[in-house]
This record gives sequence, C-alpha cells and structure tokens, in this order.
Amino acid sequence: MSTAIINISSLVTNDPSLGEGPLGLVQDAAVVIDGDRVAWIGETSKAPATDNAVDAAGRAVVPGFVDSHSHLVFAGDRTAEFNARMSGRSYSAGGIRTTVAATRAATDAELEANLTRYLGEALRQGTTTFETKSGYGLTTHDEARALRIAAAHTDEVTYLGAHVVAPEFADDPAAYVELVTGEMLEACAPHARWVDVFCERGAFDGDQARAVLEAGMRHGLVPRVHANQLGHGPGVQLAVEVGAASADHCTHLSDADVAALADGDTVATLLPGAEFSTRAQWPDARRLLDAGVTVALSTDCNPGSSFTSSMPFCVALAVRDMGMTPDEALWAATAGGAAALRRTDVGRLTPGARADLALLDAPSHVHLAYRPGVPLVSAVWRRGVREV
Ligand code: NIG
Ligand code: FE
Repeated sequence: MSTAIINISSLVTNDPSLGEGPLGLVQDAAVVIDGDRVAWIGETSKAPATDNAVDAAGRAVVPGFVDSHSHLVFAGDRTAEFNARMSGRSYSAGGIRTTVAATRAATDAELEANLTRYLGEALRQGTTTFETKSGYGLTTHDEARALRIAAAHTDEVTYLGAHVVAPEFADDPAAYVELVTGEMLEACAPHARWVDVFCERGAFDGDQARAVLEAGMRHGLVPRVHANQLGHGPGVQLAVEVGAASADHCTHLSDADVAALADGDTVATLLPGAEFSTRAQWPDARRLLDAGVTVALSTDCNPGSSFTSSMPFCVALAVRDMGMTPDEALWAATAGGAAALRRTDVGRLTPGARADLALLDAPSHVHLAYRPGVPLVSAVWRRGVREV
C-alpha cells in the first residue's frame, strides 16, 4: 500500500542531490511511502498517484531522529542525587552504583516495562531509531539479561559491562576487567552489536579501556567509547585508534583530540542533556565542526546524568549553547546519529531509505530550536507505519 504525504512546507531529506544545501531541503514537497520504504520524493505538484494521501497542510517533515546513545535498561530513579546536584554537589560516576542496585533487584518484567515507557516517550518526540546499552547490571547474569531485553526492541544494542567497576570488585578492579573481557563478554556478545567502555577517572583508565574494546572486537563487536565527559583523558584518542564508530560526550578536548577526530573516521557524539543535568560546561560543537569532524547529537537518556528522552530538547540545547546552527543540529540528530551507528538506511529521506519520519506542527525544522520545550512533533511514521 502506498501513501503520499503532500503539501509539506519544508522537507529535510539530508540528501543534497534532492534539494537545497546540506539538508537537501525541498519546499512544497511530497513524500511517497511504499511499504516500509520511501518510494519517491519531490514537489507535491509532481507526486505520483497513491492509495492514500495525508495533507501536511504547510507543515514541515524531518527524518525520524536517530538517538545513537541511551541507557534505557534500568530500574529506579535518582531524584535525590539530582536535587543534591542542583544545590551545588557535583556529578561523579559513583552514582551509577545506585542504579545498579535497583536494576539487579528488578524483575525482567519491571525492566521491560520501564524500557517500553521510555521508548514510547522517545517515539512521541520523533525518535524512530535508537541505540541502548547494558551497564547497570555488572554481573554476567544481569548484563546478559539487560542486553536480551534491549535486543527485543532494537538492533543497536551495546555491551557496557565496563560502565564502572562492580561494587563486589571495588578492591580488585583488574579482576573485574578480567570478568568483563572474559566470561561476561562470552555471555553478552551474542546479544550485542557494539562494545562500549566508560573511559574516565572513577571508571576505567586508558589501558583497561583498550583491553575491554579489543576483547569485544575479538568477539565481533564494534567499539564505541564514553570519552572525555568529566575531564581530559585518553578516551577520544583511544576511540580513534581502535576505529570506534563513535566517541561519546567529547566535553573536554585538547587540540590533539580534535585533530585525531578530524583525521579519523570516528563520529563525535555530543550529549547536551548530560551537561544540562549535571550543570557542566557545554561541549564545543563549533570547534569540532570547524575542524571538519562529523558530529552527532543524542540524548544519553539515563537516570543519573541525563534523564531526558527528547531529541528536540537536545537540538535546542545544541543550538543555544553549543554553537550549532539549527541546520547543523538537525543534521546531527538525524544523519549524524545514523553515521554514529554506521547506518545508511535511516537518518535521511531518500528513495529506498526506511520510511521513518516526523511531521512537525511548524513550518520548518528551525522551530525545534526556536520554540524549545514545545511539543512540535505531531505525527510519526516508523517503517512506513503511522505510530503517533
Ligand atoms: O553517559 N557516563 C557514563 N554513563 C552515563 C551516566 C550514567 C549514570 O550516571 O547513571 C553517561 O552520562
Ligand atoms: Fe552514556
């Protein structure tokens, strides 16, 4: 069955061959969906006949957001920690252990219900592809079950046994790294596509992080790295060196880090929800873009450092506080996320791509940043099916 969405005031395709500028903007546009794919893009006046038509009535359409970094398999929340931070305490990796205790105590059904709830929130805000991680289990059993639960909802599943050292191993971090690169990895690798490590003071140092990533790669997982969130460190350069798809956070960067990203194939994924919720300095997107680095934007949705599932909120923050233009932020939240996941079938609206798109209650995508906090996503199609 084919459907045409017609009378789109401004359509972001992210394909410069289809329209104007890097976003491939088409005015007075139509999108034809056939099954789960985009079949045709062009001006409404030239659209082919279809079984159904939806009148966008002068509103904008963007590719569904690609949220390439989230932590959605968890239980409980950390309201008290957030409150303490907003009264002046600073964020540290240690809070992760609170969520680990709650997650271990939760049943599969509770974890599944939580995940479904946050995915529903994200979908209503236009997210049609998402990555999510383990990392709140930190035992072989709990990490593998987190990945199994996640894998029922997405192909983009990341093994993050190396989130922090499990509390049982506080006195022997080396033994924990051995577990994460040994028995735990064996149990987890079949359920995951990616391997990740939190390379940061209070979590894992450069040597430990390299061991985790290389072990994952030997098991067929592709690396991505939590890097340079809380301070300077080896994470970003390690990510580039091992050929990671993405270095995530990138808040504290040296000139050598920026140069490494510019010379390598690793996407810099910026997570403004984390700086917002931890009152930390903003990542400098402008510096990265000016150096020629590919930048993605993502929510990092998790109960500790960034409890937002909203890509439009992240776009608005990136524009207001990180030096991005509205066009750059939109690209980073769609095509950039796809690049961070090494996907070419999502994050753009071109014939043959997945029919994942959001209709905005606004005349252009610029309103996502211009009207922050306003629920502008009025309809969402995922794989050609209208979900919202
Ligand atoms: O990406 N930085 C490490 N992990 C998460 C935070 C997790 C937590 O605080 O629970 C992040 O910000
Ligand atoms: Fe994260």
